[in-house]
Amino acid sequence: MTAVVVFFSRSGENYINGKKQMISVGNTANLAEKISQQLDVSAYQLLPTIPYSDNYDEAVKKAEKEKQAATRVNYEELPIDLSEVDTVFLGFPNWWGTYPRIVAAFLADHNWENKVIYPFYTHEGSAFGSSIQDLKNECPEAVVKTGLAARGSKVDRSDTAVKNWLLSYTK
Ligand SMILES: Cc1cc2nc3c(=O)[nH]c(=O)nc-3n(C[C@H](O)[C@H](O)[C@H](O)COP(=O)(O)O)c2cc1C
Repeated sequence: MTAVVVFFSRSGENYINGKKQMISVGNTANLAEKISQQLDVSAYQLLPTIPYSDNYDEAVKKAEKEKQAATRVNYEELPIDLSEVDTVFLGFPNWWGTYPRIVAAFLADHNWENKVIYPFYTHEGSAFGSSIQDLKNECPEAVVKTGLAARGSKVDRSDTAVKNWLLSYTK
C-alpha cells in the first residue's frame, strides 16, 4: 500500500483563540507533519500559484469570492505521480464552511478510482462544515474514510488524537 500526505495550509496572520497573530507555519501544515511523521510517509503542500495575502482580512475576502464563484485556484505541480498511490491523507483548513478552492482544483485534476482518502482538517470552531459531503460529491469514485478534525489553535496538543485516528489505517 502506498500512501502520501497532500495538504494546503496558509501561514501569515490568523485568528488564534480570538486574537490575530502571525504564524510562520500554518496549523494544517503542523497537523500534516505529525501524520507524515507517525506514518513515515512523504507530505506535499499544495502551493497556490498566486499566494494568499499574509493579511488575514484580505485572505478571508479573497477566499469568500473564490467560494462564491467556485473559482479554480491553480497550484504548483506536485512532484508525485498519484497513479502510483492508493491512499491520500488530504489536509485542509475549513474556509467558509468547506475546503479552500485550491483543494477542489486538486480533486478535479486526479482520477480517484480505487483510491482512498483520509481527510484531515483544522478549523476555529465549525469543525468540518460541509467539506466531507463536498468531497464525496467532488470525487464519488474515492472511498472517503472518517476524517480527523482539530482546532487550529490546539494542533500542538493533537498527537494522541492523530495516533488514535491513524489506527484505522494501520490496523
Ligand atoms: C479564509 C478563511 C476562512 C475561514 N473560515 C472558517 C470557517 O468557516 N470556520 C472555521 O471554523 N474556521 C474558519 N477559518 C479558520 C481556519 O479554518 C483555521 O484558522 C485553520 O486552522 C487555518 O489553517 P491553516 O493555518 O493551515 O491555514 C477560516 C480562516 C480563513 C483564513
